[in-house]
Amino acid sequence: MTKYMVANWKMNGSLETAHDFCQTFTRLFHAHQTDNTIVIFPPHPYLSFTNGALSGTDISLGAQDCSGASEGAFTGETSATMLADVGCSYVIIGHSERRQQHQESNTFLSDKIKCALEANLRPIFCIGESEQDFETGKTQEVLKTQLQVLNDFKGNDKLILAYEPVWAIGTGKVARLDDIENTCAFLKKELFDVYQLSSPILYGGSVKADNAKDILSLQSIGGVLVGGASLKPDEFWKISTAIVIPKKPQTSSFSPKL
Ligand code: PGA
Repeated sequence: MTKYMVANWKMNGSLETAHDFCQTFTRLFHAHQTDNTIVIFPPHPYLSFTNGALSGTDISLGAQDCSGASEGAFTGETSATMLADVGCSYVIIGHSERRQQHQESNTFLSDKIKCALEANLRPIFCIGESEQDFETGKTQEVLKTQLQVLNDFKGNDKLILAYEPVWAIGTGKVARLDDIENTCAFLKKELFDVYQLSSPILYGGSVKADNAKDILSLQSIGGVLVGGASLKPDEFWKISTAIVIPKKPQTSSFSPKL
């Protein structure tokens, strides 16, 4: 089964670094190939450029956020249809940085997922507990509340979930493997029992080339969401191929004459 390898560049880089990343990364992609699903999430102004630079590969494009409205007087916002227009197939929704910095509530996030799905984008819905919640044993309770957004999307097979403990993001503190597996097994069951979903569950939070293989080998993990380490093409390539899924053999159109 394909694993999702998600590169969230956040608000980093320039047109030049986007160009350099794509040049190196596509060269690695063409030389080695993989059946993992790779998605790059540049800042909005570099989406069109990155889309062009990735053409001719199976690498997909995503946006780091979208508006919860479809159009109108929303200065500075970008609609999901606009993102689809410039080549996006995925969108991250509810990243903890947006929840913290923009006070994104469950209702607000539900509107964003709705707009994404209407524009035919696959939402990657992010959830995660704070360090205090983790230390006081409240992880499952907090995640259950965050999952309630999915009440409006029961059974929708376009949804992807990303579990990112907030205290592991950008800190170099990776969650323990048994904690990641236990939490993701809990999420898998919760998704299935309450929301009729079998969505892939990605892990995010200080994923690097040297810990990606162990994380990706966990039974309940369907991929990784990578921040800092996704800015370096060589490192992100190592992560993307940490679990090798060989390319499916091309089916031959040759049919012998009888
Ligand atoms: P990080 O970020 O890999 O730099 O910890 C992950 C994320 O925020 O998605």
